[in-house]
Amino acid sequence: MAKPVSIDVWNPNGKYRVVSTKPMPGTRWINLLVEQDCRVEICTQKKTILSVDDIIALIGDKCDGVIGQLTEDWGETLFSALSRAGGKAFSNMAVGYNNVDVNAANKYGVAVGNTPGVLTETTAELAASLSLAASRRVVEADEFMRAGLYDGWLPHLFVGNLLKGQTVGVIGAGRIGSAYARMMVEGFKMNLIYYDLYQSTRLEKFVTAYGQFLKANGEQPVSWKRASTMDEVLREADVISLHPILDKTTYHLVNKQTLSMMKKEAILINCSRGPVIDEVALVEHLKENPMFRAGLDVFEDEPYMKPGLADMKNAIVVPHIASASKWTREGMATLAALNVLGKIKGYPVWSDPNRIEPFLNENAPPPAACPSIVNAKTLGLPVSKL
Ligand code: DGY
Repeated sequence: MAKPVSIDVWNPNGKYRVVSTKPMPGTRWINLLVEQDCRVEICTQKKTILSVDDIIALIGDKCDGVIGQLTEDWGETLFSALSRAGGKAFSNMAVGYNNVDVNAANKYGVAVGNTPGVLTETTAELAASLSLAASRRVVEADEFMRAGLYDGWLPHLFVGNLLKGQTVGVIGAGRIGSAYARMMVEGFKMNLIYYDLYQSTRLEKFVTAYGQFLKANGEQPVSWKRASTMDEVLREADVISLHPILDKTTYHLVNKQTLSMMKKEAILINCSRGPVIDEVALVEHLKENPMFRAGLDVFEDEPYMKPGLADMKNAIVVPHIASASKWTREGMATLAALNVLGKIKGYPVWSDPNRIEPFLNENAPPPAACPSIVNAKTLGLPVSKL
């Protein structure tokens, strides 16, 4: 017998049973489900990462859909449990879904939702914050100050790097990578080099136009370059930010060998997924190259750090908070709930998951569609004509 799990229940008499494995920010997502006749059960267990057994207990005998988290292992066991309980809908409250075995979901005919679009700028802003904090040694300086060590201005105190005129390198110029690139180019007048399998014409046009604007105003223009290999970015950039998805091709993309290609004073930022970096190799590199800096939001064995990383003054580490702005987290909760609700109600899938604003407008009912279902094609789900 699975252990009972503590829950809060909304609208106990609702026809459809929807489970959220965590309390999520805001209340709009709850109201939207309740208005559509859902009984909403929110797990309040004081345990950060739920096990597969905990989630099986939550699913129970009858469950129409589940909203889950990126820390959970959604594979064969959970999708078969959900399917046995009559469920056909799952949504991650995240844009990334490397914790989900989509093939297993397909096997049980379960739609898998994610939450793109709403976290693009928020995540890019955290990558930009880490870039600035690393280049100007903000965290080290803060610790020094709080320790009472400041006894007067000194010419060498916490000297860092100027970003203006340097080159920012972006690996993976999709939604978040491009938003970050624009921030660094426009905000700090950095030149851009990027690597992506696809050409980012919009990004290139943006940098070209901004360069022309600067020139017209008597300033040094900025430039862009699309690299033909990732190594070119690693060799040329002063600040490198990683924005690929995690799969077999990007696992340990940054490793001992690729780290050795980077400039000795380069800054490496990761707000994508931890295993994109070989963290043991990074710790060694940080030790051997004190002027090299890293800003990390994600870790290879989350929630843990590899031995030695916490001691490195030249690394800034934050606990996977890149999407943690109030607007974004509430929006992610709404999109995840609407993915599940839409599948339960038999709504079609929204045709453009990048254009999710209509779902986030609090002053109007959301469209009758699932905002983003990653396996819609495989499951043959209809697409919205709106
Ligand atoms: C995601 O959504 O994939 C982030 O990692 C968490 O916000």
